[in-house]
Amino acid sequence: MTDHKPAWTPGRMAFLLPPAVERYMLARSSSYSPQGDALFADTIALGNPAVMMLAREQYALFRFLAAPLRWRRVLDIGTFTGLSAQAFAEGMASSAGRVVTIDRDRGWLDIARRHWTAAGVADRIDVLTGEALPMLRGLSDAPDLLFDFIFIDADKALVRDYVDEALRLLAPGGLIGVDNALWHGWVMDENHRDTDTDGMRAFNDRMAQDTRIETVMLPIADGLTLIRRR
Ligand SMILES: C[S@@+](CC[C@H](N)C(=O)[O-])C[C@H]1O[C@@H](n2cnc3c(N)ncnc32)[C@H](O)[C@@H]1O
Repeated sequence: MTDHKPAWTPGRMAFLLPPAVERYMLARSSSYSPQGDALFADTIALGNPAVMMLAREQYALFRFLAAPLRWRRVLDIGTFTGLSAQAFAEGMASSAGRVVTIDRDRGWLDIARRHWTAAGVADRIDVLTGEALPMLRGLSDAPDLLFDFIFIDADKALVRDYVDEALRLLAPGGLIGVDNALWHGWVMDENHRDTDTDGMRAFNDRMAQDTRIETVMLPIADGLTLIRRR
């Protein structure tokens, strides 16, 4: 861990980097589209809940990857105000692409839909409302319904179950992204115990022994683990 204090700025959780390094990198990376910028601003206006928002560098990364990796179907677990879904939908090269996004809370959906419409991507995004795990278990693994990228960004307690379901729903050559792999650094502190921290720590610790998968944990935002099937 670094010796500076975590930066709790919504949308900016690159707390492992000294702020000057973070500023330098962000200033030299692609930022939000004008529509992404508007969604960011409306989410910030919510106050405290905005800390749940996708970090800017992840938004940029997902938009960046979606076209060259030819993502046509993306599953987004944890919609919130819709920034990750918007990044996938904006980045997809094909207007025939689909994003399926899941959240149990519809409270922020109006904000999401308004910005998806302004961005011209609303017709690419399907919203499922409910508890993520039963919803995932209900999704078909028929070959034409598999996903090229599955982004896991809901509660951390169940991350292992989400990854198991994601492996079932993943297209050949597809990737899974697990957000908050570092979970504010708490996963490294054995004395920090709660269901989310325990869930993420246990998942991280077992992942390396899981012979089904190959993984790389990136120090982006709050930690992003990429997984593919062996
Ligand atoms: C960190 S936010 C998602 C951020 C979003 N991906 C973005 O781009 O800003 C997590 C979301 O997951 C939802 N969530 C948490 N636990 C859930 C569960 N068990 N089932 C469904 N949704 C859940 C919350 O309601 C919240 O909107």
